[in-house]
Amino acid sequence: MAKVKTTFFCQNCGSQYAKWQGQCTSCKEWNTIVEEVIQKPEKSDWKTPTSTKKRVSKPLTINAIDASEDARLDTQDEEFNRVLGGGIVPGSLILLGGEPGIGKSTLLLQIALKLPYKTLYVSGEESQKQIKMRAERIHANNDTCFILTETKTQNIFKQIEALEPDIVVIDSIQTLHSDYIESSSGSISQIKECTTELIKFAKETATPVLLIGHITKDGNIAGPKILEHMVDTVLQFEGDRNHLFRILRANKNRFGSTNEIGIYEMQGSGLKEVSNPSEILISKKDEDLSGNAVASTIEGLRPLMIEVQALVSTAVYGTPQRSATGFNAKRLNMLLAVLEKRAGFRLGAKDVFLNITGGISVDDPAIDLAVVAAILSSNEDEALPKDYCFAAEVGLSGEIRPVQRVEQRILEAEKLGFSTIFVSKYNKIALKNLTIKVQLISTVEELVAFIL
Ligand code: TYD
Ligand code: MG
Repeated sequence: MAKVKTTFFCQNCGSQYAKWQGQCTSCKEWNTIVEEVIQKPEKSDWKTPTSTKKRVSKPLTINAIDASEDARLDTQDEEFNRVLGGGIVPGSLILLGGEPGIGKSTLLLQIALKLPYKTLYVSGEESQKQIKMRAERIHANNDTCFILTETKTQNIFKQIEALEPDIVVIDSIQTLHSDYIESSSGSISQIKECTTELIKFAKETATPVLLIGHITKDGNIAGPKILEHMVDTVLQFEGDRNHLFRILRANKNRFGSTNEIGIYEMQGSGLKEVSNPSEILISKKDEDLSGNAVASTIEGLRPLMIEVQALVSTAVYGTPQRSATGFNAKRLNMLLAVLEKRAGFRLGAKDVFLNITGGISVDDPAIDLAVVAAILSSNEDEALPKDYCFAAEVGLSGEIRPVQRVEQRILEAEKLGFSTIFVSKYNKIALKNLTIKVQLISTVEELVAFIL
């Protein structure tokens, strides 16, 4: 038997040390260094079998490389394709991270059952029966998706060799373990080793591998940071668990942009693609309520109409409360200060609550003007006309600043039947024959004059 070797790893950042120490020198965290036994008689477990389609690599000039060979695999899911930049690239490793219960397993099972290719769905978390129940719930089935419950990479590779799938899904990387490493599943060295074996397999056979990864309390993918460097694409599945909407983002993508987002709605029968998010996010009510305003924002490359709700009330305690859901609380304080100083509203002694409906969080600065309008409307207890919407940033001196791609925002508002959109005077707009009225304003005072 080969000699047992131990090494020390920081469980936070993955740094390796020859001996134990209390603080990790690289990430400065305390008590994160753990001894792990590593023992590697062989380099990796994936030994390219002669039976699988093998790709031999040799140097080529850019012009000589045939790009059509790497045609992307269509996932039959428009949102997923969009986020990946047009489908799955053969031989790529895609990591999908997200909080527990957000729907990662549901999303990938749904895609696996929709794919017209031979798919192997490996689960280390659920039994075949449980997966079958989930599949029945999402009303999906086909004859090309095979379910395997296994956690040992050696056994998984054996099955892969026998089945020769076109796509492999692993749920989740933290449950895998390799025989060559003695530490428990989910430890840094296991994750590293299993991912290395999977990469070797993916690159040698041009088979894409989709990995599910757990995330830690602070929202990072659990395991070594290098995991994110090793894979080709890192996707993040996010949303408020109590709300229906889920957003899929690419944090890293070697084969496409990271600007695109995919929007899903969690229903009783699985995740449904949302292709017209604006229409769903705006509540259609008959009566006018104060404190509501609609913003025309851009998420990724798509325009999205979002409803902002504010509640301003007299503070009961000495220190007024400020709370924001889906919006940066510091930015809310800044906007309140601007209203106080530039427009003379006495909000210093008021509680202010702000909520972005649908459980979505927005960081597009163009939502500022709608936030200000919602706060003013609630403060004066006067409802804004239902068919007004807003798209501009508010500066520290109360000026209304221009935003990117204002024309796309105006067209989306027009499409959804809004009568007036407020934008900055400094935005250049070349649109003609609009049915929507574009109201140009340059200061917060002007906004007050228009809406109150
Ligand atoms: P799951 O995919 O198990 O989450 P993850 O793998 O990210 O931990 O999703 C679990 C949640 O999704 C669960 O709380 C129930 C909900 N759900 C539905 O609402 N509808 C469905 O059809 C399915 C399958 C799950
Ligand atoms: Mg799961």
